[in-house]
Amino acid sequence: MLKTIGVRSPKERALKACKPRIVVIGAGLAGLAAAKSLLENGFTDVTVLEASDRIGGRVQSVQHGQATLELGATWIHGAHGNPVFHLAEDNGLLEHTTDGERSVGRISLYTKNGVAHYQTNSGKRIPKDLVEEFSDLYNEVYELTQEFFKNGKPVGAESQNSVGIFTRDVVRKKIMLDPDDSESTKRLKLSMLQQYLKVESCESSSPSMDEVSLSEFGEWTEIPGAHHVIPGGFIKVVELLARAVPARVVRLGRPVRRVHWNRSARQGETPDAGDHNEDRRAAPPGHPVRVECEDGELVPADHVIVTASLGVLKKSHESLFSPGLPEDKVLAIEKLGISTTDKIFLEFAEPFWSPECNSIQFVWEDEAQLEQLAYPEELWYRKICSFDVLYPPERYGYMLSGWICGQEALLMERCDDETVAETCTELLRKFTGNPNIPKPRRILRSSWGSNPYIRGSYSFTRVGSSGGDVERLATPLPYAESTKAPPLQVLFAGEATHRKYYSTTHGALLSGQREANRLIELYQDLYNAEATKPNM
Ligand SMILES: Cc1cc2nc3c(=O)[nH]c(=O)nc-3n(C[C@H](O)[C@H](O)[C@H](O)COP(=O)(O)OP(=O)(O)OC[C@H]3O[C@@H](n4cnc5c(N)ncnc54)[C@H](O)[C@@H]3O)c2cc1C
Ligand SMILES: *[C@@H]1O[C@H](CO)[C@@H](O)[C@H](O)[C@H]1NC(C)=O
Repeated sequence: MLKTIGVRSPKERALKACKPRIVVIGAGLAGLAAAKSLLENGFTDVTVLEASDRIGGRVQSVQHGQATLELGATWIHGAHGNPVFHLAEDNGLLEHTTDGERSVGRISLYTKNGVAHYQTNSGKRIPKDLVEEFSDLYNEVYELTQEFFKNGKPVGAESQNSVGIFTRDVVRKKIMLDPDDSESTKRLKLSMLQQYLKVESCESSSPSMDEVSLSEFGEWTEIPGAHHVIPGGFIKVVELLARAVPARVVRLGRPVRRVHWNRSARQGETPDAGDHNEDRRAAPPGHPVRVECEDGELVPADHVIVTASLGVLKKSHESLFSPGLPEDKVLAIEKLGISTTDKIFLEFAEPFWSPECNSIQFVWEDEAQLEQLAYPEELWYRKICSFDVLYPPERYGYMLSGWICGQEALLMERCDDETVAETCTELLRKFTGNPNIPKPRRILRSSWGSNPYIRGSYSFTRVGSSGGDVERLATPLPYAESTKAPPLQVLFAGEATHRKYYSTTHGALLSGQREANRLIELYQDLYNAEATKPNM
């Protein structure tokens, strides 16, 4: 009698036969996307180890009354061709997105509802036409920054390979050469330039645009279409992925201390100092990798997908991998950049801004001539570049969302709520020229830099690094010997491993799928090899 068992594809039969154990480190978008793909392709032994007590990683939506505030990712950048957009769109997450939550254009130039108010530190608003004139000039130069990568334009001296240095230089020359502007207008434009560069560094999550590589800047690729906010929270996208991953697969509060890899060669050796009996029981021969959790638990695996951020890798790659990572991978980790961009939400009982105002931009006139924007510690607040008005008020109330990045963001993280709220209120009073602005009702802020499992907001191509370093970061270990297929013991996913879409949610998601596909193909190949053997 034939038993009616589910008809399995050859691939599924192959997987059932060898039952590879896969551990995914991290339950952010990359980790969950990887786990989902694996489970959907017949892998059954998948475990996700997440250090924190929640899923989502750098996607964190916080409920605040009617509103959902995003401490991390906010916008789906681009529409058609963006897998996060399609996931959200297909599942109705964008049905209630309003015009105020949908915007077009380059990130810093969102044409949102209303008008950005550029205010100086003497409390005056810069006229709109002057802002527009400057904005056009700045954008012309931004277009020039794209040519270095796209058209292979040479940068000249390596010391000049910096978006910040190039932009400041070219924009300043154009400002100084304009015969129509008075000295005071020139000074205002020079100060606006500094403010634009602060905004840009918040967007690229670099300490300063001076650290962002000019020759590589254009490799980051924009997906066309508007930017969308998900009214129900970006976490809904994470939850959609998690829905395909059974709860038992994801283990929260399981920080990984060390990944022991390259073990096949060590089988039969005397156990090293870290090994004890329990250990060997947990790691029967045949599992080339052991993942050691903070509490000492050992999880044996055939393959591990590491999705910890570049910040975590920078800080702890030495202790996280045994044996240590190959030199070229360490170099890539050291060369690529990641810094912190934080948000500061302030809620007011009443708006002190006019209804058409969509943001308040802080322009420090005394910074017009500065070469670098590095501040002494006590002046950290000068790095806060702007406050956006969250719109519509029916959803958000009277809520401002401020931006700060770099070392100064870390200093902000160290202050208490009271100090930050007071400092921000002082800034708002000074720049709007309104001394009567009350203190906010509530403050909420992110602290991505000091989060030990994140350590930064997202990656950028730092001066001296390139897309090649991104590839090296993404290459699985151990490296393939020329004749054999790579054994894929340790694979790397996460935002920073995507060459064109680094720094984004879609980059993270695609990187997880990419690494899952490597394994899916590996077992497909193994099956094909088996199938062609005689007498199977
Ligand atoms: C302030 C801010 C604003 C942003 N805005 C946008 C935006 O508007 N649009 C956009 O597309 N993107 C945005 N991003 C970027 C986006 O959030 C990230 O690119 C993406 O979420 C990264 O996903 P990931 O899976 O690569 O990494 P993560 O989300 O960092 O996931 C990695 C997970 O690994 C866990 N982990 C780390 N170390 C260990 C360990 N030792 N053991 C176990 N687990 C560990 C972490 O806890 C984390 O959950 C923003 C990010 C920030 C911080
Ligand atoms: C992995 O093991 C092989 C075989 O013992 C050894 O030659 C190689 O150096 C090891 N790789 C690392 C990175 O330790």
